[in-house]
Amino acid sequence: MIKRPVIIDTDPGIDDALAIAIALFSEELDVKLITTVAGNVSLAHVTDNMLKLLQFWGKDIPVAAGAAKPLIEPLVDASNVHGVTGMEGYEFPEPKRELLVKEHAVNAMYRVIMESEEPITLVPIAPLTNIALLFSMYPEVKGKIKEVVLMGGSASRGNKGVMSEFNVATDPEAAKIVFDSGVPMVMAGLDVGWKALVYPEDSEKMLGMGKTGEMAYCLFKKYRGGSFSTGLKMYDSCAIAYLLCPELFTVEDTYVAIELAGSMTRGCTLVDLKHYLKQDANVKVCLDIDGEKFRKWFLEAVSRCI
Ligand code: RIB
Ligand code: CA
Repeated sequence: MIKRPVIIDTDPGIDDALAIAIALFSEELDVKLITTVAGNVSLAHVTDNMLKLLQFWGKDIPVAAGAAKPLIEPLVDASNVHGVTGMEGYEFPEPKRELLVKEHAVNAMYRVIMESEEPITLVPIAPLTNIALLFSMYPEVKGKIKEVVLMGGSASRGNKGVMSEFNVATDPEAAKIVFDSGVPMVMAGLDVGWKALVYPEDSEKMLGMGKTGEMAYCLFKKYRGGSFSTGLKMYDSCAIAYLLCPELFTVEDTYVAIELAGSMTRGCTLVDLKHYLKQDANVKVCLDIDGEKFRKWFLEAVSRCI
């Protein structure tokens, strides 16, 4: 089987960690590069966390650090959800740093994309600052990208603001550049993230699944994306699930605009399902997910990790 070459852009982040584990231990994906961006916590913390995770899994994937803040506004992080370090709940040993390349994430993405014989799939599961910089500095990469499959946005309500989702709302200008880029896009937003739940019985099963399951269990005890007892939201795993098991999703091709100027709606994704804005579709939006099938898929995927 020819593996799909991907670059993951991430801000680990407890839900990021599980999404990346599933991608790295899948048969179908070839993770060529992992780039980090400030989001859940600072760039320093998310980059350290990424190196710690790769050392934990024994995976030699190059890591490139990217933007330390959004394009315009200061970073407002999600340490209330993921803990101060971004990976609260599990003590990882200090990482070796050989995997951290000297290039900026944007330049590393440019190099990997242009060198690849196959079109690359970008998988941003974080604010879109790095991706916006890539498209702005190197527009020629757009022709070599198969699609962008991102976790972000919402066709309904928000988790950072009343109507805005964290990854998009953290850097709305970056999101606008990416959504308006013309590159094929898939949006796995809160409409599916809120239904991609891991329940206590699932977490207990993960305890017996080897070191990744045990590590995840410890992190889940601290993760505030939902609740351990009523269901933890595996937001970022939805982007990976779309790549590995697209039949889990109900998807609609439509036009999505990013609100920049709304005094109370800045950073929301306007998912124009009724075509009020008379614009051509620019995004495949995941509007629903089969939650029970997701649970089964997620546990099976975690069981394949070490
Ligand atoms: O809104 C959920 C997103 O914000 C996820 O990517 C999570 O990791 C946080 O970054
Ligand atoms: Ca994330």
